Amino acid sequence: MNSTHEIVICLGSSCFSRGNKKTLHAISEFLKSHSLEDKVYFHGAHCFDHCEKGPVMKINDEIYEHMTREKAIAILEEYFSGK
Ligand code: FES
Repeated sequence: MNSTHEIVICLGSSCFSRGNKKTLHAISEFLKSHSLEDKVYFHGAHCFDHCEKGPVMKINDEIYEHMTREKAIAILEEYFSGK
């Protein structure tokens, strides 16, 4: 696996207050428990201008909308299962 994976979570006020705070923790735990911390550049960003579809996160260039922590974990499991 190379180290080019990038996960960005929106920490704009709308997404943050609608659940991305919990999703942030869930993703961080997932990366830790799967020893992916060194292989993924995981960081927060300001508003993506997708507030009405938030909370949002991005993996590489793909945007995922209406995030919950459960959904984030399912997406990560699927994303990393083939890597
Ligand atoms: S606050 Fe997340 S898209 Fe606007």
